[in-house]
Amino acid sequence: MNQSVFTEADTEALFDDRQRDEHFRSFWDPEGSLHWGYFENLAQAQAEDFLPACLRWDQYMLEQSGITASSRVLEVACGSGNASIWLAKQTGCEVVGIDLSSNQIDKALAKASNYPSVQVSFHKESATNLPFPNASFTHVWSQAALYHIPALDQALAEAGRVLEKGGIFLFDDLVTPVEKISETVRKYVYDRLLFEPKFSSKTYAEKLTQLGFVVLQQIDLSEHLEKSYELVSELAREYYPDLSAAFKKTQEAIATGELGWCFYLCEKVSDL
Ligand SMILES: C[S@@+](CC[C@H](N)C(=O)[O-])C[C@H]1O[C@@H](n2cnc3c(N)ncnc32)[C@H](O)[C@@H]1O
Repeated sequence: MNQSVFTEADTEALFDDRQRDEHFRSFWDPEGSLHWGYFENLAQAQAEDFLPACLRWDQYMLEQSGITASSRVLEVACGSGNASIWLAKQTGCEVVGIDLSSNQIDKALAKASNYPSVQVSFHKESATNLPFPNASFTHVWSQAALYHIPALDQALAEAGRVLEKGGIFLFDDLVTPVEKISETVRKYVYDRLLFEPKFSSKTYAEKLTQLGFVVLQQIDLSEHLEKSYELVSELAREYYPDLSAAFKKTQEAIATGELGWCFYLCEKVSDL
């Protein structure tokens, strides 16, 4: 298998691409969120159920998190800031959002200026080198983003470092259930996402344990990812047929176990 090697600079350029951003906004979410949905009824979900399913997933994570008005939350790879602002509005907590892309951070800052009473701030930073003191957050939250990070172990260690003891790290991420990836899936799924296979759901949990976390909850969400890609393929079909076809291939890769989606809720129990 040819291993592709993507760099942080490649990811930064991808998310700084304003034209790509506008394309995705036109069918994924006009507010610029780029994550996946949790469906109430997988068998019957239609295209119009996609955005409500994304919000349902935000709500599920919030319910599990234990975030309250006195929490201090770091959102890693916050994109254009929707979840950070939503979390701060829902709970009254303080949220700090970081993202590698200045395009995404500019959008997050513009959005936050509409909510002056909400305790939220945004910074262009990498998850692999967080400019925050040890133990300075009660929660670290991330959605649909860690798979983009080539130095993922370092980013996970940084999440642990900035969390206080007893703090909660909750995130969803892509995983690779099988060992062998076909060339087609590599080209249309992994290379498109700048994603190199790193963990299965099991090895991910083992890594988190090595880093001083106890995994309190682990959920395989792959069938919801498969439905999400089926629906975004439909939503993109008219104006972006190539993207729509790539999303269809992504849906197929999930069905063959070449791609998966997992949620982890972890408590930090020890320092590295
Ligand atoms: C698919 S988007 C998801 C954004 C947001 N979490 C959401 O759910 O809408 C992935 C985000 O990860 C960010 N990202 C990728 N690598 C990063 C890194 N090393 N540090 C911080 N952010 C990163 C990208 O810039 C992009 O905004």
